[in-house]
This record gives sequence, structure tokens and C-alpha cells, in this order.
Amino acid sequence: MPEPYGRRVLLGVTGGIAAYKAALLARLLSDAGMDVTAVLTASATRFVGSDTFSALTGHRAHVSLWNTPGEIIHVRLAHQTDVAVVAPCTANMVAKLALGLADDLLTSTLLEYDGPLVLAPAMHSGMWGADVTQANVTTLSSRGVRFVGPVDGPLAHGDTGPGRMSEPAEIADVVFAALRPRDLDGARVLVTAGPTHEPIDPVRFIGNRSSGKMGLAIAREATARGAAVTLVLGPTTIAPPPAMEVVHVETADEMRSAVIDRFAAADVVVMAAAVADFRPKAPHESKMKKEAGIPDLMLEPTPDILAELGERRRAGQFLVGFAAETDDVEEAGRAKLRSKHLDALVANTVGRDGTGFGSETNQATILVADGRDVPMRAWSKAELASAVCDLVARFTGPR
Ligand code: CTP
Repeated sequence: MPEPYGRRVLLGVTGGIAAYKAALLARLLSDAGMDVTAVLTASATRFVGSDTFSALTGHRAHVSLWNTPGEIIHVRLAHQTDVAVVAPCTANMVAKLALGLADDLLTSTLLEYDGPLVLAPAMHSGMWGADVTQANVTTLSSRGVRFVGPVDGPLAHGDTGPGRMSEPAEIADVVFAALRPRDLDGARVLVTAGPTHEPIDPVRFIGNRSSGKMGLAIAREATARGAAVTLVLGPTTIAPPPAMEVVHVETADEMRSAVIDRFAAADVVVMAAAVADFRPKAPHESKMKKEAGIPDLMLEPTPDILAELGERRRAGQFLVGFAAETDDVEEAGRAKLRSKHLDALVANTVGRDGTGFGSETNQATILVADGRDVPMRAWSKAELASAVCDLVARFTGPR
């Protein structure tokens, strides 16, 4: 199965102090499965070395039009790029791009290239606010170039103000979004992710191994495709992306309240969280001491949030659940789809290597109430997130 989107990124780095942060951007993009090639301007190399980018991306970083005899390097790079980003992008580079100059490798490559282009400006406030720079930004925006930042903050020379480069995670999200269709534009999507922790006493809890990666992949994908996403996130160490509302919760009860409060305003709910099914009936208010002996833990069921949503749903809402099964995956999943009144259910195979909690891939089928199931196969979490969003887009229709 082909990758759902292109993933070849050209990372242009120009000469500003924020160039050191471009190394982190290269790392983030590579970690997200992107195939990154860096091109540095001569002045960028005064701040960072090209070897840093070669090492981080696994591809030789380029600095000159003249170092690769026998090939037209700017044409090759331009033709093998799905999305280009320049970070940091100096005032000089903004001006050159607006004019169509091609006097070095980066400008020549970008002139030949005709895909999505993201610029992350970084410069002093006066340079950013200058009429000529703003006119260049307007020209480039009208040609479809996307700008991320700059933001207010500390600048070189001890000054503070607008002109600081956006954080690498934010730039990575805009790059990610530039590769995707805007087919969820305006859809209000509520996603849950991660485990829940059910307290035994103030220091102990019952939890599970969910990392939250699956729900987070769906939240990122839906955001990139234009949805307004609210992520209700259980306790996990992973950092949610900046471009969405995040509600942090600990227990199944807290997750239920957060979801029920926002349910009426949602067009789509994806319950990817691994909500604990049971919790201690009477959690201790103070820490249990071991001298008191082995405790009797009496458990009780947690509220089934998804089942409650299935009962309360109104026409026009789309409800997606997840299930983890060891046996008869499709049959058990189909029964859950019906009993919880869902539109779709991602039925995961668990209990084998390379699938389920904490793993990078899932062996899963997507069961759909209208019968147009997506057959069982191995998916990366990003691919599965994209398939779930395809389904949601089919339901929400052209916007
Ligand atoms: N879910 C929920 N509230 C719970 C438990 C689960 O909303 N208290 C949601 C999960 O987010 C997931 C789906 O329900 O989308 C999982 O369904 P469930 O029937 O709990 O599956 P399993 O945990 O696999 O249950 P079982 O042991 O009954 O197979």
C-alpha cells in the first residue's frame, strides 16, 4: 500500500541565529517519518554545520550549486520534493523569493520547485515590520506560500519583540498540514487518547500500557486536514502538538465529564483512549502502609463513556470507537459496533508482537456501520489515523 501522502521534505536553512533550531526541526520531521534533505545558504553555515543536518536526516546536506559535478543539483532537489520549508527564513530570503532571484543553491531550487512552500521568518522587529518586507510577505502569501510566525519574544542583540522564529514543533505541524487535503475544514472533532489512572490511594493507581500515540496521531491528522480538534488526554508522557485544545484528565470519571461536556458541540468523536474498565471501589484517602497487611481491593466498573455517547448521540454526529481483541477480532468488533451504536470501530488485534499497546504498528480492521469495511492489515499509526480521517471526511462530506 503506498504512503498516503508525499513525505520528501526540502529543509532550507538561512543565516540567522535561529539556524541552530533548524537542527531540531530536522529531527522532528525525520522522527515523524519524513524524508528530509537540508540545503543551507553560505551564511547559514556560519551558525550551523551542514554535517549536523547530514547526520540528523541520513541524507547529505547541500550548500552549493557546484559541488556535485555531473548533475544539475537544484533541478534534482526541486523534482524530488513534496514540501519545502525554509527555517529560519531571513528578510533577505523573503525578498529574494518574492523577486524570484536564483543566485545560490537554495533560491535556484525553490524557483524550480512548484509544490507547497512553508516559510518560518526570523529577523529583528524593524526588519520584519519594514514596509518592503511586509509587501514581500503579501506577495508571497498571494502566491500560496504559507507563513508560520514570527512570534514575539527575545531576539538577538538583547532585544525583545516580533521577529522570533516559531518553535520547531509548530513549524513541523504546518509542514505536515501542507501535504494534506483540507477535507475536514471546519469539522469539530473530539478525540480521546491515552490511558486512565484509577487511584488506589494518593500514590498508587490502576492503569494500563496505552501510550496515547494512536489518539494523538488521529488528533494531529484531523488538525492538519482542517478540523478544529479538542483532545481529551489521559496521563501520558507524550507532548500534544500546539495547534489544538488539550484537556488533561486522570480518571475515567474525569474523562467522562470532559467528553460529555463537549459532546453536543462535536460533529465527530473518536474514542481512542484505553479507558480503564474497573476502578477501586473505595480509594484510600491516605497512603496505605504495608504494615497494615495486604489490602483487599474491591473493584467496581467505570462508566462506559462510548456506550453513553451512543445512547445520547444526535443525528449528524459520527462516532468512532476502538477495540482491542485477542480472538475473533471481526466478530467481536462487529458486536461492539452494534451494541454501542457506533458508525465505525477500529478493531485491533492484541496479544501478538508488533501490534497494539506501545507498538509502532497495528494489525487492525475498520468496521463501518454502512458495511464498507476496511480489511484487516498492518498499519503504521499515521496510516491508520489517515484512514480514520478518510472515513470521517466521507461522512462530513465536501465542506
Ligand atoms: N471505552 C469507554 N469507556 C470505558 C471503556 C471503554 O468509552 N469505560 C471506549 C474506549 O475508548 C474504546 C472502546 O470503548 O473506544 C472499547 O470498548 P470496550 O468494550 O471497553 O472494549 P474492551 O476494553 O476491549 O472491552 P471488553 O473487555 O469488553 O472486550
